[in-house]
Amino acid sequence: MTVLTIGSTKRLHGKVRVPGDKSISHRAIMLAALATGRSLIGNFLVSEDCLRTVACIRNLGINVEVENDTVSVCGRGLDGLTEPEDVLDAGNSGTTMRLIAGILAGQNFSTVLTGDASLRRRPMGRITKPLQLMGAKIIGRQSGSLAPLAIEGGKLKPIDYQTEVASAQLKSAILLAGLFCEGWTEVVEPAKSRDHTELMLKAFGAPVEIDGLKVRVRGRHELRACELAVPGDLSSAAFIMVAACIVPEARVVIESVGLNPTRSGIVDILSLMGANITIVNQRESMGELVGDLIVESSRLSGVTISGELVVRAIDEIPVVAAAAAVAEGTTEIRDAAELKVKESNRIAAITGELRKLGAEAYELADGLKIVGGKPLTGTVVDSHQDHRIALALAVMALAAKGTTQIMGAECLAVSYPGFPQTLAELGGVVIESGSEV
Ligand code: S3P
Repeated sequence: MTVLTIGSTKRLHGKVRVPGDKSISHRAIMLAALATGRSLIGNFLVSEDCLRTVACIRNLGINVEVENDTVSVCGRGLDGLTEPEDVLDAGNSGTTMRLIAGILAGQNFSTVLTGDASLRRRPMGRITKPLQLMGAKIIGRQSGSLAPLAIEGGKLKPIDYQTEVASAQLKSAILLAGLFCEGWTEVVEPAKSRDHTELMLKAFGAPVEIDGLKVRVRGRHELRACELAVPGDLSSAAFIMVAACIVPEARVVIESVGLNPTRSGIVDILSLMGANITIVNQRESMGELVGDLIVESSRLSGVTISGELVVRAIDEIPVVAAAAAVAEGTTEIRDAAELKVKESNRIAAITGELRKLGAEAYELADGLKIVGGKPLTGTVVDSHQDHRIALALAVMALAAKGTTQIMGAECLAVSYPGFPQTLAELGGVVIESGSEV
């Protein structure tokens, strides 16, 4: 197990880049594999999760070369995948498992998909149900609701599907399966989840129509290889943003960050809390909005957030909780029950760990409540083997008296392996960036 030790920090200063967007990196590999010809992906996120997607796609017979953060994929067209010799392992990555399941449903061969202990506990019924409606044969534990999943692909028929949850992984699984159907496959969501799949499908030349909460794709259309640059991951930038807000003397510039409106809830939430955030150099790249963020020390106040704002910041709730613990007043986060089925039960994990540091935090049935401004003191806390919990605790540690030891910090490698180094470069007190115990 790895321990990350962070000390109370008074000053953060400098200009940084965060690694490439995780959601976009996964999708780029998958779509490039299904396109015809060689795609080049720049600023790819070389992290454990995305390398799982690379490994799965390689095992499906596609040549993928990773050199630093540039990836070259030799796509063989919609029908170019071949049957893997062994089980495909998605590790900790829900995006790998759910999106690849959509692709595997349309193949003329069989596969078995598994993942680590956390992923094998996460709900898969939400994807197996629509894929079965399209005609795929899928068997999994607990009537197809838990991995491992055995998928016998075949000829699929298009569906019009109304999802019960706003989940980009679910929407994407259906749209990717739709690539293998004659005609239009349609998904309608209760609230708009991140739209990277539909934007990237367009960039690869697929016929896609987006109308509010409805997305349609027409299948059996050849995808053309692309060159694309992955924007910096706003979900990773969020940790640096909150760090800059809560440290007494801070001015941090984060360059080239993805600002897709379906993902930018964190900017809105922190702004509502009173954060000093300025966005400059806004531009568009392959349909995705990108910009630079300037974040300075801020006096934060508590907020109440729910609904669509929570969907647009679903991965950032642990770090919002950290910000709320130093803010003045009470923060309430509702409509966030999905957090219970992420890499860990994030509601229980973050409230429990913040309490160890002295914060006043309560679990709610669909979210959490934090009474800010209590004195925080460094202690030993646990990542719950969840990268976003480990990162949120590392940020919280900056505002706690003394030092904080984050146990199980190896899980940072899932999305942000270089975080301790970046934090140290900015002047954060990183006492040990990953000693083994
Ligand atoms: C993701 C979608 C979200 C998010 C996850 C990445 C994606 O999950 O929490 O970290 O890349 O599509 P859901 O689809 O379950 O909402």
